[in-house]
Amino acid sequence: MNLVFLGPPGAGKGTMAAVAKDFFNIPHISTGDLFRYNIKNETELGKEVKAILASGELVPDSVTIKMVQDRFTNDDTKNGFILDGFPRTIAQADALAQFKKLDAVVNFVLDRESIIKRLSGRRMCKSTGRIYHVLYNPPKVEGIDDETGEPLIQRDDDKEEAILNRLDVYQAQTEPLIEYYREKGLLIDIDASKEPSVVFEQLKKALN
Ligand code: AP5
Repeated sequence: MNLVFLGPPGAGKGTMAAVAKDFFNIPHISTGDLFRYNIKNETELGKEVKAILASGELVPDSVTIKMVQDRFTNDDTKNGFILDGFPRTIAQADALAQFKKLDAVVNFVLDRESIIKRLSGRRMCKSTGRIYHVLYNPPKVEGIDDETGEPLIQRDDDKEEAILNRLDVYQAQTEPLIEYYREKGLLIDIDASKEPSVVFEQLKKALN
């Protein structure tokens, strides 16, 4: 199954993809995670995009599309994939259509107030990318990853100023994709405001 997870920052795309990839046995490809991996490892790409991610702006289409095309040269995407955070512009969606056929685009719907609450309370394990929330999904020991024992961090772009910018960028550049995919008959709307297990049940039902 070839899937795209669409929705505003903090809607829970990464949280759902982490569960869905095991359930459907397909890889989770998050462009945000790929950029953060490059930043952590101080690659040329990482140096190029570090300040862009921290501000909440989008990385240029040409750079992002090339990174995704490179990722698709890996054999693990032959039987399906979950693209999380890509495409994010019409140009990216047009480019994706040139090299992959999609089965569905899942649109995670969440209001602005909930988005801000989710992002400001998010914490993550830097080495594994595992996601927590200080209230909604806390680790067993405060500030520590359940499995690796490493300290949890707050993403640079989860600070208030960057969150507000990301929401503006989403509205201006990514939201038009909802109609783009609805017109193609691929869009599935999911109410992302419920707790994760309920959101996942909705997702399974919709994809069946
Ligand atoms: P990216 O990493 O993709 O960020 P995003 O789209 O802003 O999405 P998030 O990771 O913030 O949110 P999410 O929906 O995955 O929510 P999560 O599951 O973590 O991109 C980062 C940056 O990279 C971009 O700003 C841009 O600079 C660049 N970039 C990436 N892709 C690009 C592209 N295609 N083009 C150009 N630039 C690109 O959940 C959030 C919190 O809520 C967590 O704490 C979680 O525990 C909690 N939570 C989740 N679900 C629930 C629930 N159901 N109930 C209660 N709490 C929940």
